Amino acid sequence: MANQHANLLTAIDVGSAKACVLVAEITPNGLRYRGHGVTESRGSRKGIIVDLEKAASSIQKAVEQAEDVAGIPIERALLGMGGAHIRGVNSHGGITFGTRVREIGRDEIRSAVDKARAIALPADREILHLLPQEFILDDQPGIHDPLGMMACRVAVRVHIVTAVSSALQNVVSAVNRAGVHVDDTVFEPLACADAVLRADERELGVCLADLGAGSTNLIVFQEGAVAHSAGIPIGGDHFTSDLSVGLCTPIVEAERIKKFYGNAIVTLIPEGNEVEVPSVGDRPSRLLSQRTVGEILEPRARELFELLRDNLRQSGMLELCVGGLVLSGGASRLPGILDIADSVLRRSVRLSWPTPLAKMPASLAEPEYATALGMVFYAHRARLARGSQDERWSSKLKAMLVG
Ligand SMILES: Nc1ncnc2c1ncn2[C@@H]1O[C@H](COP(=O)(O)OP(=O)(O)OP(=O)(O)O)[C@@H](O)[C@H]1O
Ligand SMILES: [Mg+2]
Repeated sequence: MANQHANLLTAIDVGSAKACVLVAEITPNGLRYRGHGVTESRGSRKGIIVDLEKAASSIQKAVEQAEDVAGIPIERALLGMGGAHIRGVNSHGGITFGTRVREIGRDEIRSAVDKARAIALPADREILHLLPQEFILDDQPGIHDPLGMMACRVAVRVHIVTAVSSALQNVVSAVNRAGVHVDDTVFEPLACADAVLRADERELGVCLADLGAGSTNLIVFQEGAVAHSAGIPIGGDHFTSDLSVGLCTPIVEAERIKKFYGNAIVTLIPEGNEVEVPSVGDRPSRLLSQRTVGEILEPRARELFELLRDNLRQSGMLELCVGGLVLSGGASRLPGILDIADSVLRRSVRLSWPTPLAKMPASLAEPEYATALGMVFYAHRARLARGSQDERWSSKLKAMLVG
């Protein structure tokens, strides 16, 4: 009997602020929302599990919520990976068959990719993704799918995303403890791209930056392929703790003030506006100028985008991002963030509004759920790639190498 859950896809995004579980169903008309659960994340900071029990219990609560809405048990899922520890590197390699041309089959492609992936990796890191960019047959670059073509030499350029092994394994353990088997892991912005980037942006060159709570992760696409990936150790929590220290107010109040009165550009806040700021201890609350809030947030926002700009510049990507910058993640909701990003990077910047699933609650159509949504689209694509013969070369190759 066919498994009644065979058409369901589950994504788990364990963030620093929230754990989110999303279930989608594959229908003839595309993906349909089946259920989701969101809990405040515990035991996870900056993409790293700091308390396994707490992390597992908040994941489990989110899983239970999603199970209740979807009306099915969740046994397996695609797990998102992020954090400042993520690094990307480009590599290439190839093999020569001699002077006679031969037909390129899966074995030849696999051998070329094996050469390209043979990079010296620090002992504490492992490969999260091996993403082909292009194949070069003899001296002919820009080949997308070499399968069945003739050549004396096949080479490949790949982008390799690496993660700190312990960080990766601890998130998997937390999800396992929550009673869910991890089918596969995905670098979050790679999946997020499926929900927020347009094909023309990927071709032209675009950077997608996920501004989370603990860190910012980014990915760059160029000519349709992944050209760069990285993690930056600043996220929305840093904005909140700056406010907490600067205004001498508890973290929860700083978080509330950031969301209601925050702006990344001081001059966008009307002069004369005032904000009531609770104090710590038994001291009475104070009335402060709203611009004080902006004066604390603006330097942090500037620092974040300067780090992003320097990261793109050092990897030679800044000039390639002709299609601009796309921001996702909860911290991208801070008013003024587009203006500050534009002033530091001098690129067109837009917010991401994730492609919705059919029947999805409106509350999920927000930048902080773009990753979870992208993950179900990604999981669907990966499933199609495993099952189909006429998928694009990159998906086919991923299925070939991974599955
Ligand atoms: N309106 C808002 N203005 C400013 N910041 C906001 C707003 N809404 C949410 N945030 C911030 O977004 C962050 C949470 O974003 P998100 O849910 O994407 O993080 P996460 O995925 O849990 O974390 P990470 O990806 O870093 O592991 C928090 O720091 C929160 O303060
Ligand atoms: Mg996140």
